[in-house]
Amino acid sequence: MSLIKNNPMRGGNKFKLGVFGANADGCLSITKHPDRWMAEWDDVVAAAQISDRAGLDFFLPLARWKGFGGETNARHISYETFTFAAALSGLTQQIALFATVHTLIVPPVYAAKALATLDHASHGRAGLNMVCGWNQPEFDMFGLTKPDQVYDQGKEWFEILKRTLSGEAPFDFKGDFFDLKGVCGAPGSVQKPHPITLSAAFSPPGRDFAAAACDCIFTTFNTHEDAAATIADFRGRVEKADGNAGLFAPVHVVCRPTTTEAEDYYESYAVTQTDNAAVDQHMAMKKKMSGSHDPAAYDLYRKRFAGGAGSYPLIGTPGQIADEMIRLNQLGFGGLALSFVNPKDELPYFCDHVLPLLTEAGLRQ
Ligand SMILES: Cc1cc2nc3c(=O)[nH]c(=O)nc-3n(C[C@H](O)[C@H](O)[C@H](O)COP(=O)(O)O)c2cc1C
Repeated sequence: MSLIKNNPMRGGNKFKLGVFGANADGCLSITKHPDRWMAEWDDVVAAAQISDRAGLDFFLPLARWKGFGGETNARHISYETFTFAAALSGLTQQIALFATVHTLIVPPVYAAKALATLDHASHGRAGLNMVCGWNQPEFDMFGLTKPDQVYDQGKEWFEILKRTLSGEAPFDFKGDFFDLKGVCGAPGSVQKPHPITLSAAFSPPGRDFAAAACDCIFTTFNTHEDAAATIADFRGRVEKADGNAGLFAPVHVVCRPTTTEAEDYYESYAVTQTDNAAVDQHMAMKKKMSGSHDPAAYDLYRKRFAGGAGSYPLIGTPGQIADEMIRLNQLGFGGLALSFVNPKDELPYFCDHVLPLLTEAGLRQ
């Protein structure tokens, strides 16, 4: 029997923080800035270990198979996420390690086995972020077409994964998307009934899927006002589904001793030195194929797409960033997934200066 460590995603800090996207070039940014993250493996390990030692709660990779073109072909480099998390499990002590998985691409029985392996290797620190997906050129690499009812496929996928992880006697499954015979999987997961689950989504069907089945939705917002509306809408769906899912959001962070330094750096990497062609393609593809953002966001917030793939910006001093995080927690977010232009270089200052303020505010231990 594997020894279970405390998974920081279960209990612990009231407001959870982790790093998002360090498995891919640029993290969430689209930039030609010389500090740009190239996802070199030793840098990834360094960033994960800084996060682990500082007591951050999770390390969350993104799932990407193709770049967005332009000069940098942003995101053409990315590590596969189960093996990424498993490799980091031997190099970290306490942090939760997520895999981000396309339900359309990875068969659920394979995903269950990989997740169980990660959960054992990490002594119960595994997490699963399900992405039902949007990017047809990526699906073309696998000879797949995104179905219209992608979340119905996701529901069947997740049901099979859970049953496989539970170690129940061999079972058959017949649905609209899967017809499986004699499914079994041992060992089951260390965490019972299964590792922590997120679902990255925005649309009403995506919200319903997460509300009914997951521990958390991982979703986007543009302003405090629309965040409040999204949270109220999602909570209504959770109540209807009799679930207890929470909400997490991605943000991009520039934390500096002065506001001017932070804003100047943001302007330099996300405007002056952005890769405009890659930003154009990223936004055009998302506009056409993904419901992950409010349609108005593409016109209003180009800088945010260059700065952090359309996530919310946290730009400023440690005090300003901590205040904004406190506000987002008050609105109803249980955690944030942080991206930086260069996580290895920027995490130490962030952890040393922002985390103590959140502890003082009672959001973290
Ligand atoms: C915060 C967030 C993170 C996401 N991360 C990924 C990712 O890593 N890879 C991916 O292919 N899609 C990702 N997506 C896209 C979603 O899986 C989904 O396909 C997209 O949001 C469209 O579905 P929706 O209309 O239900 O939101 C993400 C979406 C959100 C909101």
